[in-house]
Amino acid sequence: MIAADPCRILVLTGAAAPFSRTRSVAELVCRATASIGSTSVLRDLAEHTLPLLHTDPDGSSALYDLRTQAEQADGMVWVTPCYHGSYSGLLKNCLDHLHAEALRGKPVGVVTVGASLTAVQASEHLRAVARALGCVTAPTQAVVVDENSTWGKDTDPGARNRITRMIAELHALAGATALLRQCAAIADPLLSIDHGPAT
Ligand SMILES: Cc1cc2nc3c(=O)[nH]c(=O)nc-3n(C[C@H](O)[C@H](O)[C@H](O)COP(=O)(O)O)c2cc1C
Repeated sequence: MIAADPCRILVLTGAAAPFSRTRSVAELVCRATASIGSTSVLRDLAEHTLPLLHTDPDGSSALYDLRTQAEQADGMVWVTPCYHGSYSGLLKNCLDHLHAEALRGKPVGVVTVGASLTAVQASEHLRAVARALGCVTAPTQAVVVDENSTWGKDTDPGARNRITRMIAELHALAGATALLRQCAAIADPLLSIDHGPAT
């Protein structure tokens, strides 16, 4: 258990394959979260399907739930398979539905699962998305490449350690970024004020 207050972590996992390794790694992230005394909500995007962006003007209840979970979370972990050098389309569609106004200053950890170390590219791409949403990424990321392991049992200890360290960093960042989130709450309404023509 670490000293900061317990926090709520939303774990988003974006893989639709049967017997998905990514899903198993996401469960490992949840166990790592529990091991430091925090709670997690696992949202499997293959089970909770979302409409494609801009195809559901009335908004689905799944979309409402997603946004509420993201707003209520103290931090998030995005877990994705690597497909053709990047993260999954399932996760991309989900992230496109989130609003920077609600997430600015929120800590995010990224975990990618792949067949080789090229999967690290997906982590870099997710970091760029986190930046676009105004989120703060944990310094540690995990890239899981051991194709033959059974997740949860014989997981590569290096990847396990990185996931645990990343969760501990999210925990610390959740406290450290509280002021940042307050700044965003003050500054965002100011951005919408019309200051008149620029001189
Ligand atoms: C269409 C496709 C593209 C892939 N591209 C990559 C890749 O660029 N780099 C990589 O390391 N693995 C790649 N893989 C392998 C997957 O990342 C790997 O099998 C991973 O375990 C898939 O996760 P899942 O079991 O949750 O589906 C690809 C797999 C598929 C199906």
